[in-house]
Amino acid sequence: MAKPPLSMKPTGWFQVAWSAEIGLGEVHRMKYFDTEMVAWRSTDGRVAVMDAYCEHLGAHLGHGGRVDGDRIVCPFHGWEWDSTGRNVRIPYEKRPNRGRRIGSYPVAELNESIFIWHDIDGGAPYFDVPDVLAGFDDDRGAADYYPAATLFRPGLELHPQYVMENGVDFAHFTFVHKVPFMPDITRHDFTRPTSYVDFTIAFENGIRAEDVSSGVEAVNAGLGVAATKSWGMVDNRTLTAVTPVDDATSDVRFSVWIGRRPGDESSELPTGAKFLADAVIEQFTADIRIWAHQRYSDPPSLTHGEYDGFTQLRQWAKQFYPAAPTAPTPVTSERTQR
Ligand code: FES
Ligand SMILES: [Fe+2]
Repeated sequence: MAKPPLSMKPTGWFQVAWSAEIGLGEVHRMKYFDTEMVAWRSTDGRVAVMDAYCEHLGAHLGHGGRVDGDRIVCPFHGWEWDSTGRNVRIPYEKRPNRGRRIGSYPVAELNESIFIWHDIDGGAPYFDVPDVLAGFDDDRGAADYYPAATLFRPGLELHPQYVMENGVDFAHFTFVHKVPFMPDITRHDFTRPTSYVDFTIAFENGIRAEDVSSGVEAVNAGLGVAATKSWGMVDNRTLTAVTPVDDATSDVRFSVWIGRRPGDESSELPTGAKFLADAVIEQFTADIRIWAHQRYSDPPSLTHGEYDGFTQLRQWAKQFYPAAPTAPTPVTSERTQR
């Protein structure tokens, strides 16, 4: 077992589903951060995520709860709750219970994905989920990409930070991804909660290092979500999302988009794009095989070249962990000090 010595309750955005999994009026059960939750979509399309248990007598809203307009109705006694967890109607009383509230989470839905903001202290979001298609510094957007493939690997014994470290880990690319030489990291920016790592990389054999004209730009929004854009090679975008389930395991979601050729407006994914997306998934699977069995090394033994990237990343990561409870000041008495 390799339970990480890092908190599994970090603050930030975390993907909890893909949009297609929660249709209009549907209620979806899930467990994240050691908490039973429900996600439900109102009839006008908005997703709400809240704790699963009804504040009246504790029924699980994911077992028989139903959506009525912009409310979820408990199956036990019909109490109605809005998307912020407030009780808005008790069918057999004149007034709702204004005092009771089911814990709810800020939700973002973009790029066919659903994210919640998790903060153990209930703080509001202070950074955004990156838009993997429209959020890079170019004029591309959702219309330019096919959603081409996804990978879901639930319950892996890994911590979100392992996955974030992958970006600064230039040496693993030659071993895990079989690239002909190690990428050249051209940008590290760990000054804000959203960090940036860019590198040049080439996948074809026989190319000379000085001739590389392709690369990856990565945007890491906290520890849970990383968006990448490739340039100079297969036009792909990826979204990596790691969401803690409990104190030892996380669900990993990976989404791949492939660029459309100019003028291509077909709704059908071309075979070529599917093939490319599968290759991207395969590369990611190679990482997962390491992460799922890795033990967090602290302090790590780093080479001179690795030191800067890893140290900056690990320092950056600390801001997302809940503050450790302050240890009680040891009390010593005359009698014990012999
Ligand atoms: S337990 Fe939900 S309405 Fe009674
Ligand atoms: Fe990797």
